[in-house]
Parts: sequence; structure tokens; C-alpha cells
Amino acid sequence: MAVLFDPLTIGGVTLPNRIQVSPMCQYSAVDGVLQDWHLIHLGGLMLSGAGLVFAEATAVEARGRITHGCVGLENDVQERALADLVARLRPLSEARIGLQLSHAGRRGSARSIADRSKGESLPADERAWLTRGPSALPYNETWATPEEMTPDDIATVIAAFADASRRAVRAGVDVIECHAAHGYLLHQFFSPRTNLRRDAYGGSLKNRMRFPLEVIAVMRDAIGPDRALGVRVNSTDWHPEGATLDDAVLFAKELEALGVDYVTMSAGNLVSDAVIPKATPGHQVGFSERVKAETGLTTAAVGLITDPHQAEAILREGRADMVAIARGFLDNPRWGLHAAAALGVDVPYPQQYIRARPNNWTAFKRVHPEAPSVASTHQADRPSGSTWDRPDQ
Ligand SMILES: Cc1cc2nc3c(=O)[nH]c(=O)nc-3n(C[C@H](O)[C@H](O)[C@H](O)COP(=O)(O)O)c2cc1C
Repeated sequence: MAVLFDPLTIGGVTLPNRIQVSPMCQYSAVDGVLQDWHLIHLGGLMLSGAGLVFAEATAVEARGRITHGCVGLENDVQERALADLVARLRPLSEARIGLQLSHAGRRGSARSIADRSKGESLPADERAWLTRGPSALPYNETWATPEEMTPDDIATVIAAFADASRRAVRAGVDVIECHAAHGYLLHQFFSPRTNLRRDAYGGSLKNRMRFPLEVIAVMRDAIGPDRALGVRVNSTDWHPEGATLDDAVLFAKELEALGVDYVTMSAGNLVSDAVIPKATPGHQVGFSERVKAETGLTTAAVGLITDPHQAEAILREGRADMVAIARGFLDNPRWGLHAAAALGVDVPYPQQYIRARPNNWTAFKRVHPEAPSVASTHQADRPSGSTWDRPDQ
């Protein structure tokens, strides 16, 4: 049996397998409210064979959105839309539903992906807003300079993370992840490149970790034991003067002490002058491996994991407990079902799709020639020798 399809318990939640659809911004919300696009996109991914399907980075306050199209979770209208989405996704499959909570900090007020060729930072005439960060340092010269956050601003954002966590719990989300990577606000506090503060939130690593840890502590309280709390961690800034993997390991130890249920080890996007090595398959798996070796945390590996055998090897070699896959699922929204076939694992299909199951569709072998034959106990539709393959049925 492939480890990839073993169940995994994180906090109060048991995932049916170890495949995660990684959070992916869709830039398709209106006033922070989820739309039909999200139902269609995530609904399809509920049928993908993944054990955990993440909705995108969701801002805890309007100022914390990346773009005008980002989802928010700071008011009742947004919460109702999330509760409605979760209720509609729930019956589609056994997959658990995740939501990532985030604050963009100085990377907010940006153009959506579709318009980025015109420049990333929003100009004033496109409803730009004033961003805040640990220090008054812009991402680069083409970006607006953020305001340095006061102690009151810090307290407000911490309270917003707690409030959004409670809203996510009420809406029925199973797994709530705090975004502390990719150059957004928590990462901006964490890194010496973006945090030049002289108060208790700047200077030493202990001080730079203070704000992210205070956020995650209130999230832990708000989420309680019946759900799961994860953190997306920055493993390195890819900059000689930036945060390192050693810093990330110390941070992970603090997260473990706070009772975080898992971490996803990612990296980058903090500064525009980072020197990032060319990405190769599984290029960030080593980060997860190190944290797994040095803490008792459950970890997810992410980044150019595309092949089921590659994913299986990462888990089997003990380098991570689950894999998070983003673009692989955009390319192939049945990635999980195909992975099961490739690894010879018998998994249930959505009832509506059973005619394409390996055991029901004679062409399956032609479409997936590498897949081994699997004796299935699931959904054998007709007695053998039936004419199920005929297109007129
Ligand atoms: C369209 C898109 C949107 C993304 N949005 C988010 C996000 O909301 N939160 C996040 O942590 N990562 C986000 N990412 C990064 C992915 O979750 C993932 O870490 C990255 O794409 C590497 O994995 P992959 O090689 O499987 O695509 C996004 C990636 C893509 C392609």
C-alpha cells in the first residue's frame, strides 16, 4: 500500500490521504466575498482524489489583501459566503477543507496576476490603498512605501487573525493555516531584511518571531482542539543577509511548543534581490526533511512535486508527512485519482465518474499505459462481460 494514500491525523482532523491541494489565490473575489468561480474551482478539486483541499490566502482585514480580488474574512457577508461554500463542498467527497489566513503587509495594494505586466503595485487611480509593515521599506523602488506599524496596529492585526479564525471555525472549515511565508506580513516581521524595528518586535530573532508567534497563539486559542492549525513557514529568504533555514528550524520549535499541528515548509518572495537557485523537482523537500528531523512536527513538502512516484518516495523516505501540490492540480484536476492508479491503489471514485474508473473503462490502460492493474473492491458497475464500455449507454 502506498504511504501517499495512508490516512493522516493532524490535530482533531483525519485526512483520508496525504495529498494536499496547496492554497492558490484566484484573484476572483468581489469585496473580499467568494464567488461562483471559487465553488467551481474548489468543487472540482474536491473530486481530485486529494485528502485536503485548500482555499486560497484569505485576508484577515481589508488592508491585508494582496489585490482587490483577494478573499477576506473580516465581516459577516464574507463569513456567510464561506459557510455557504463549505456546505456545498462538503457532500462532494471525503476530502477535508482548508483555509489559509493571511495578511499581505507591504505586498498589499498589488495588481492582480492578469494585469501584472503593467507593474505589480497599484497606482493611485486604481484604488490603491496605504499598506503597513514592520518598517517603512518598500518591496522595491516600483512599490509604494508602507507605514511602519505602531503597537496598536500590531494588536489590531493580532485580534483580526483571532476573529477570522473564529469565523473560519463557525463556517465549518476543517484545517486553518496561518500564512507566515512568501514575503507577506508575518514573514516581513520574521526577516532581518524587512524588519528594522528597534522595539520588542525587531532586532534579535526572538524579537522578530514575536509577532508571528503572538498571531499563531491567538489562532490556536480560537481554533480549539477539534480542527487543525497549520503554518506555512518561510525556510529561507535566499539572501545572504536574510533569514536562514536555521532560523526556520528555531521558529518551527516555537510553533511546536504552541501546539501547531503541522507546518508546510516553503520559501522565497520576500525581497526582489533574492538569489534563488533554479527550481528543480522537489526543490524544497530538504526544508521539510530538516524540520522533521529536528522537531516532532508533522510536515508538508511543497514545490515542483508533480509525479506520484516522486510524492510517494518523499513520504516513504520520511522527508515529509504530506505533499502539497499547486500547479499540478491546475494542470490535472484528477491528480489524486491518477496518482492512485499509478501507484496501484484502489480508491473510491465520485459515483458520477465511475465509468472512467480503471476497473470499469477498458481504455484506461491505453490512456495510462504505465498504471499497474488493480483489483478493485469499489464500484464495479456491472457484472464482468457487460457492455459498459459502449458509448451509447
Ligand atoms: C495560482 C497560484 C496561486 C498561489 N497562491 C498561494 C496562496 O494563496 N498561498 C500560498 O501559500 N501559496 C500560494 N501559491 C504557491 C503554491 O501554494 C505553491 O507553494 C507553489 O506553487 C509551489 O508548488 P507547485 O510547484 O506544486 O506549484 C500559489 C501558487 C499558484 C500557482
